[in-house]
Amino acid sequence: MGTSARPAIRIFDTTLRDGEQAPGFSMSPADKVRLAGQLEKLGVDIIEAGFPIASAADFEGVAAVARAVRTPVIAALARAVPEDVTAAWDAVRQAARPRIHVFLATSDLHLSAKLRITREECIARSVAAVRQAVALCPDVEFSAEDATRSDLAFLCDVAAAVAEAGATTINLPDTVGYALPDDIRRMFSAVAARVGPGVTLSSHCHNDLGLAVANSLAAIEAGARQVECTMNGIGERAGNAALEEIVMAIDVRGDTLGCRTRIHTEELYPTSRALSAVVAVPVQPNKAIVGDNAFAHEAGIHQDGMVKNPLTYEIMRPESVGAPATKLVLGRHSGLRGLDARCRALGHRLRVEDLRRLYTKMLEITDYAKSVDDTELVGLIRDLDAPGLDTAFDAVGASVRDSHDETSTGHTRW
Ligand code: KIV
Ligand code: ZN
Repeated sequence: MGTSARPAIRIFDTTLRDGEQAPGFSMSPADKVRLAGQLEKLGVDIIEAGFPIASAADFEGVAAVARAVRTPVIAALARAVPEDVTAAWDAVRQAARPRIHVFLATSDLHLSAKLRITREECIARSVAAVRQAVALCPDVEFSAEDATRSDLAFLCDVAAAVAEAGATTINLPDTVGYALPDDIRRMFSAVAARVGPGVTLSSHCHNDLGLAVANSLAAIEAGARQVECTMNGIGERAGNAALEEIVMAIDVRGDTLGCRTRIHTEELYPTSRALSAVVAVPVQPNKAIVGDNAFAHEAGIHQDGMVKNPLTYEIMRPESVGAPATKLVLGRHSGLRGLDARCRALGHRLRVEDLRRLYTKMLEITDYAKSVDDTELVGLIRDLDAPGLDTAFDAVGASVRDSHDETSTGHTRW
């Protein structure tokens, strides 16, 4: 199937709502407007801008995003109570494409321990809130909080009732990150069979067991056509499914997953960095797709492969996600070919014997320092006092074999 013939998965970004609920991640209305502009550039389909009843700042943040950002749908969250639905509508009504997002828990644990209501009351409250929202706004989403720990037959009853009441999207959250991919597939298949094709099913997975992205992809396989996620995977506790990981999994493995998104992937890295700057929390270096090390290679064998053909160790190119170019980091595990590539990038083409001298000096430094940066490397090259000229690797692999080159027969040290 050609890429454009594949169904598009709607990307529902909840960085500004579930993401900001994480301790230390709250955002001012101005922060939200700035990030929402970047999310629009990224091409997300829906921005959940906040939970208007929660505070005056939250209300103002949603209203400001609704006024400023015109292409994506702007969603506002509401509990299944009349004041929340009214506040959500008041905050989002100026959006070009508003959505009210109503939620109520459906697991027996939440019903008895938290809400102290019966299953019948749960259905009645869900239906009443959805009806109230539908009377205000044509686009209404209902979320069955803690869906993955809910009785499946009851969850199907709730889904059927809110669909009948007019919800156009039904979200089945793994609120506490408890589910395994097979649980998710079973749940989505059952609810899809019950509500039929007129309703969009949505996934919303938390990452407590590190399975949020895998579970979101399982939901897509079982019929979900919307995924809720956050940039950098921020969110309650261990966070939400990371938007950049879901999008690139679909981009790289769309042939197998049989779907696509409308995301402009080259905006992923800029969006990740914009968020990190706003909340003043750095991105972990090994974060998939957007971390500093996502396209960095230190091991000699990997550097050798990368110089010969980047496909050997990269399944996507940094430019496809807007990240800075691949980095060959010079550290204790690097080899001659990586060193040669770094020297050339700095405009120095060294003879083989000079490159070997430089390599020895580099190892003296990396025995106690983590890596050699470009400034230090230029200093080392200057100290060599070498004439420079033709290079060690004009014919790939022909002139020099080092211990980090897999074509080498010498001793190994990686
Ligand atoms: O995790 C969750 O269940 C939620 C809902 C409010 C959608 O964030
Ligand atoms: Zn959540």
